[in-house]
Amino acid sequence: MKKITPEELKRADGRDGRPVHVCVGGKVYDLTESPLWSGGDHMNRHNAGEDLSESIKDAPHDPSVLEYYDQIGVLDTVSGESGDNKVTSESGATAGVDTGGKPTTNGDAREQPEQPPRSKAPRTPAILKPLLRLHPHPVSVHFPIALTIVAALLVIAGRIFPSMAADLHTAARIDLVLAALFTLPAIGTGFFSHYYDYGNSWTSTFKIKLILSAIFLPILMITLIVLFIGGDGATMAPWLKVFFTTLVCLLAVNVMALGYFGGRITFPGGRRKSGV
Ligand code: HEM
Ligand code: HEM
Repeated sequence: MKKITPEELKRADGRDGRPVHVCVGGKVYDLTESPLWSGGDHMNRHNAGEDLSESIKDAPHDPSVLEYYDQIGVLDTVSGESGDNKVTSESGATAGVDTGGKPTTNGDAREQPEQPPRSKAPRTPAILKPLLRLHPHPVSVHFPIALTIVAALLVIAGRIFPSMAADLHTAARIDLVLAALFTLPAIGTGFFSHYYDYGNSWTSTFKIKLILSAIFLPILMITLIVLFIGGDGATMAPWLKVFFTTLVCLLAVNVMALGYFGGRITFPGGRRKSGV
């Protein structure tokens, strides 16, 4: 297995057309072909040309994703160590970070070689790259989040101050119509960013966000129907008022949960073995 010095690794930073190499657990991988490492940058957080043995422990995916790409060598340091992870054999087998890889030598020549797993990450068309750099989803989500929470506050205020119920109801109505209008681009850009920036990978957080969005939309529709046909804040039947208040509060909780799980994607913390 070819030995690669830290200086050689550093040069393979993916910038200006240079190759994209990273080191994990003493093994050096060529990620040049990965759409998720284009230009040497991964998720706006990690740079190529570095030893990422520690960083990958905090990644929302298994180190086995490295198996999509070829190991091109082992990191050759003076002490024979890479971070905490010693290179234990010439074949590049390592301790410390388990990349989930198959053993490179198992002594059984009769075994059929397995097909290596391949990345399923879609390649971003050049025309869409400037759009993705604007982070359309984080930009658009704040509108439905704020508007839905404000709508819930207006409706609750209408229940606490009955004399102002009619005015607060009208304000909540305008607010919820705007929330509905802004929800569509928020969900659309979510799918867009998930597909291109996150490799279309349906990890647990994305599944939760999908379910929450699927619940959010019908509740929003029912709330709007009640708002428009149920009368104003003063004339609405008491049972309908309770039903309506519950719906709006559910929407607010739902949108906060969507934001919470969204934040776990953009600011992952702690150590998870798999699943964003
Ligand atoms: C907290 C930081 C990180 C985040 C949020 C992140 C996120 C992601 C996501 C969402 C994917 C696509 C889904 C998947 O294949 O499971 C991915 C793929 C990948 N990640 Fe990370 N990652 C992080 C850190 C790292 C680190 C430190 C490495 C070290 C080399 C790494 C290497 C890879 C590779 C090789 C792929 C597969 C790329 C492809 O399919 O072309 N990631 N990452
Ligand atoms: C109304 C529905 C939704 C709301 C309110 C919402 C909210 C959020 C929030 C607050 C963030 C964190 C943004 C930040 O850190 O600034 C986020 C991130 C994210 N959400 Fe959503 N989300 C929604 C629906 C979806 C859907 C349906 C998907 C598709 C599966 C999705 C995919 C994502 C992705 C990929 C990120 C990371 C964005 C990035 O790194 O640029 N979201 N979401």
